[in-house]
Amino acid sequence: MTETMAPAGAGLDDYVARGLEHLWVHTAQYNDLAQDDGFVVIERGEGIYLEEMGGRRYIDAMSGLWVVAVGHGRQELADVAAEQMSKLSFANPFAYATPPAVDLADKLATLTPSTINKFYFVNSGSEAVETAIRMAKQYHYNRGDSKRYKVISRIGSYHGTTLGALSVNGSPMMNRAPFEPLLPGVIPVPNTNGFGALTNDTTGLDDMFWARYIEEMIKFEKPETIAALIAEPISTANGSRVPSVEYWQHLRKVTEEHGILLIHDEVIDGFGRTGKWFASEHFGIEPDLLTMAKQISSGYAPIAAVGASDKVAEGFLGGKREAFVGGSTWGAHPVSCAVALANLNIIERERLPENSAATGEYLGQQLEELKSRHKIVSETRGIGLMRSLDMKRNPETGEEFTDADEVGKRMPRLLLEAGILSRAGASIQVAPPLVINREEVDSLVDGLDQAIGGLETELGLA
Ligand SMILES: Cc1ncc(COP(=O)(O)O)c(C=O)c1O
Repeated sequence: MTETMAPAGAGLDDYVARGLEHLWVHTAQYNDLAQDDGFVVIERGEGIYLEEMGGRRYIDAMSGLWVVAVGHGRQELADVAAEQMSKLSFANPFAYATPPAVDLADKLATLTPSTINKFYFVNSGSEAVETAIRMAKQYHYNRGDSKRYKVISRIGSYHGTTLGALSVNGSPMMNRAPFEPLLPGVIPVPNTNGFGALTNDTTGLDDMFWARYIEEMIKFEKPETIAALIAEPISTANGSRVPSVEYWQHLRKVTEEHGILLIHDEVIDGFGRTGKWFASEHFGIEPDLLTMAKQISSGYAPIAAVGASDKVAEGFLGGKREAFVGGSTWGAHPVSCAVALANLNIIERERLPENSAATGEYLGQQLEELKSRHKIVSETRGIGLMRSLDMKRNPETGEEFTDADEVGKRMPRLLLEAGILSRAGASIQVAPPLVINREEVDSLVDGLDQAIGGLETELGLA
């Protein structure tokens, strides 16, 4: 057997070489990673900062992947994990409960919308989406309504990458072609801004137009064949556009009228990202099923969940045949549950949803100011600490960047040079940890200012 541990004191070059050889980095293209400084190795984190091997510090402007609500380097969470591991690291989740799983479910019942009271723990957002879809189908089946197999999902929305989740994932980021045919019965409909509609000209059509469009699609598809509608209350993938209260109230009413379950995918929105514990609170509605992940543990341990309303949970009462089909070895993992609970206690104790609302508003104002400093900034949007900034070659004429502008390559590099880690191209995601303060927002916006100015200079648009 060969020694696989890094030699003591192994440096960045060694990690880059071995990483390029053996580590399959998710979604990245090897050829891009292998170029210049493309292979970034993050070694530690503290608060809103991440540190690359070799010592460079960056602001984590996307909280990892909208994950790290409480900031990096919380010793309290490491201690909870260590204590739980030494007490009990695993018990068969197909047969037994553990105290951390019960405590976490109990806590979630106090935080989620009032009718959501039962929680099924899994390991990732995709798995939560898969589980919610299966729950919706079996809910109808258990009630003798086995014709309902269709799922409505919105084009432009992101719901994950496992095959079921991919089937409802309408994000243009995902190339679904290699995996087709996917789940039958998925009905794609346009998003809140008309994205995905069979027309390029959606000018003057507000989100209520698209809510009514979905209603018509439901009627056309025959409501009695539809199990569920899945959507993020506020979709990050579709540009952090905040729909109107009427949009969600209308879709809630329509789904209820037709016996269709509403699945709210709050994998990103949940736990304070939008300035409230859950984004559905902005719209005064409650879903039937709620998917959660990411900030549930702030990334200190992998865990996700599906919350079921009382109505849905009751649909699974009965005999063995009515019990929900499935299970996962790592489901309700005691260490992840303990860490998630401690993380939620921090979010509550430090009033992070409130900070997200207040500091997020300040961030929104600062981003909007970048418009007056940079001609290429066309639009800023969002709510709480979930924001996006869009750029165009010429916002006045609507001229987009060309392929030759290589904005998708330039912008991440310019942001790195300005000390910022985020996902960026013609649009920049700005979603820092919920612990961020105003001073840190100023540093973040200064960095964005520098990077956007750099792009203008490089493209001769200054
Ligand atoms: C709204 C939404 N749903 C589901 C997922 C899938 O989560 P995961 O990557 O944990 O599988 C994501 C991931 O970003 C997401 O944004």
